Amino acid sequence: MKKYNIAVVGASGMVGGELLHLLETRKFPAGEFYAFNSGRKPAAVRFCGRSYPCAAPTLAALKKADIAFFVSTDEVSGRFARRLAAAGTWCVDDSSRFRLAPGVPLVIPEVNGGELSASRKLIAGPNCTLTGAAVALAGVRRKFGVTELRLATYQAVSGAGRSAMVRLEEELRAYLKNGAAPALKGGFPRPIAFNLFPQVGGFDAEGNSAEENKVEGELKKIWGDKKIKISTTAVRVPVLRGHSLAAWFKTARPCSLAALKKELGRTPGLKFSARAQAYPTPLENGLRTEVVYAGRLRRAKTAANEFQLWIVSDNLYKGAALNSVQIAERIIRL
Ligand SMILES: NC(=O)c1ccc[n+]([C@@H]2O[C@H](COP(=O)([O-])OP(=O)(O)OC[C@H]3O[C@@H](n4cnc5c(N)ncnc54)[C@H](OP(=O)(O)O)[C@@H]3O)[C@@H](O)[C@H]2O)c1
Repeated sequence: MKKYNIAVVGASGMVGGELLHLLETRKFPAGEFYAFNSGRKPAAVRFCGRSYPCAAPTLAALKKADIAFFVSTDEVSGRFARRLAAAGTWCVDDSSRFRLAPGVPLVIPEVNGGELSASRKLIAGPNCTLTGAAVALAGVRRKFGVTELRLATYQAVSGAGRSAMVRLEEELRAYLKNGAAPALKGGFPRPIAFNLFPQVGGFDAEGNSAEENKVEGELKKIWGDKKIKISTTAVRVPVLRGHSLAAWFKTARPCSLAALKKELGRTPGLKFSARAQAYPTPLENGLRTEVVYAGRLRRAKTAANEFQLWIVSDNLYKGAALNSVQIAERIIRL
């Protein structure tokens, strides 16, 4: 079997660690392996039983790879990914740098895997928050059409990287010891222990957060639907891992609950529970899980043809590392 040389830029990070684990456990045909980080402090990662030192990336070093995974920062992806792809290396980018760039496919394999082609070597993976909605509603959208979508998000701190997880743990310990949140040290805009806040990223002139705008723009691109109306309130919650969504969606054509349940039951990448009590939670369904979970389907009381659904997915797996590995598994078959 052909083997592929792999580079991971951001190998020492949260998503990088999960990516290495998945490449190994899913038996990706990896040849040589190259690990990159910021180079600011010595670090090594383990992959397939060996330890690899991390180094700061250079274009020359990255060119040794057949496939490069970018799981670091927008700036790093911007600096290397286009030039590297032009030189013939597949680039799977998990940053937001190229997600809305024309000509760059933004891909969730089970939703729009057909966008992958041998000639487009730079591929973006979407924001971890919208992945759950994109997967869960893909089949419903195809069968009945979706004209409007409202989302309230409940986003885990790991969506903001390793330092945010450490931050939550530190705040919780300090709160339990002293009865108050410690002073903020940058990072989150408000205390997160025993708290939540409706701000993920900065605000635009209309008062929408960066995350809310990403959800709208990226979902429209993935679903290939510029007309769908999407409105989101993105909220950071004191959960370590697993993003949850409360979704309200309006279908274009009338449909029964039974028909919706049938569609959700056969949507690729989704595990749907029709029983009300069998709803997913981040603790039970958001840790190293490979599918998106949904439950609590019901008619909304606000409009005809409007329905409600509760969705949970692992932001570090399907929202990031797993999606990237699934993209790589597809491109080596092109
Ligand atoms: N967390 C999620 O749920 C999620 C979901 C979807 C997409 N993403 C995207 O995935 C990427 C990584 O997120 P994360 O949560 O894993 O963050 P993280 O835990 O903070 O890790 C960031 C990684 O990037 C490396 N890095 C930072 N600056 C660099 C530089 N100048 N050159 C090379 N490497 C550099 C870091 O290396 P050092 O250890 O040396 O600092 C570290 O390995 C981001 O683009 C994020 O938007 C994250």
